[in-house]
Amino acid sequence: MAILRVESLSKRFGGLAAVDALSFQVEAGDIRGLIGPNGAGKTTTFNVISGFYAPTSGRIVYDGHDIAGLKAHRIAALGVVRTFQASLLFHEMTVLENVLVGRHLHAPVGVWDAVSGRARVTEAAAEARAIAVLETMGLADRRHDATVNLPHGLQRALGIAVALAAEPKLLMLDEPFTGMNLEETRVMMGHIDAVRRSGVTILLVEHDMQAVMGLCDRITVLNFGRLLAEGTPAEIRGNANVIEAYLGTAA
Ligand SMILES: Nc1ncnc2c1ncn2[C@@H]1O[C@H](COP(=O)(O)OP(=O)(O)OP(=O)(O)O)[C@@H](O)[C@H]1O
Ligand SMILES: [Mg+2]
Repeated sequence: MAILRVESLSKRFGGLAAVDALSFQVEAGDIRGLIGPNGAGKTTTFNVISGFYAPTSGRIVYDGHDIAGLKAHRIAALGVVRTFQASLLFHEMTVLENVLVGRHLHAPVGVWDAVSGRARVTEAAAEARAIAVLETMGLADRRHDATVNLPHGLQRALGIAVALAAEPKLLMLDEPFTGMNLEETRVMMGHIDAVRRSGVTILLVEHDMQAVMGLCDRITVLNFGRLLAEGTPAEIRGNANVIEAYLGTAA
């Protein structure tokens, strides 16, 4: 069953069609790769699905809801949560505090909860949930460390933990492997697979082909905002159009 259907989606910036009549659908429980050369429209696709930009045209159907053009917080509340290409962590806070802040943005405590004492219960539940999420991302032991002291790979993992604290059903990851060495990449691949095994569907934008080929069930390839190819990792690896699009960029 498809958890996400993108239908003829376009996003224009002035004369530029950053996303151009793009259609694809993602099966529930899959890790779907979204790849393509720099400027192909991957982040813009994320921005439109997650409600950071309204689409110029097209439909986005998530879990039975037509979400195209909804506000970002409404889309997040439905279970569509994304991470950012650049890290947006609070560096002076601890690891745990970052996750709790991410959670608060998603589920703010109401006045009634605060007055009735239910807020404290909510806080305890939030902390338990935050620690579970940190365990998934291999960060539970570091939860009282200042975020600024984490090595790069663990800061990227924390960015995903913050997103997971919002309890997504569809998690969109924008280049989670950026700047990682081979060992950090291997560890992060294990964490992302664990997130998928916990029942979260993942849409993965990534340039690291080892990670994309190793993790994804299917891959959608964009070029100049348009769908270039779609298939299994083996099919995409051997696709002449895909190879040409990447070599064309390098040259
Ligand atoms: N807010 C914006 N205003 C104007 N143009 C934009 C905006 N955001 C993106 N673009 C343009 O849209 C095109 C697609 O950009 P996008 O960031 O989606 O590419 P990408 O596939 O994520 O690339 P990368 O792999 O480098 O992250 C680019 O030409 C970019 O310059
Ligand atoms: Mg991008």
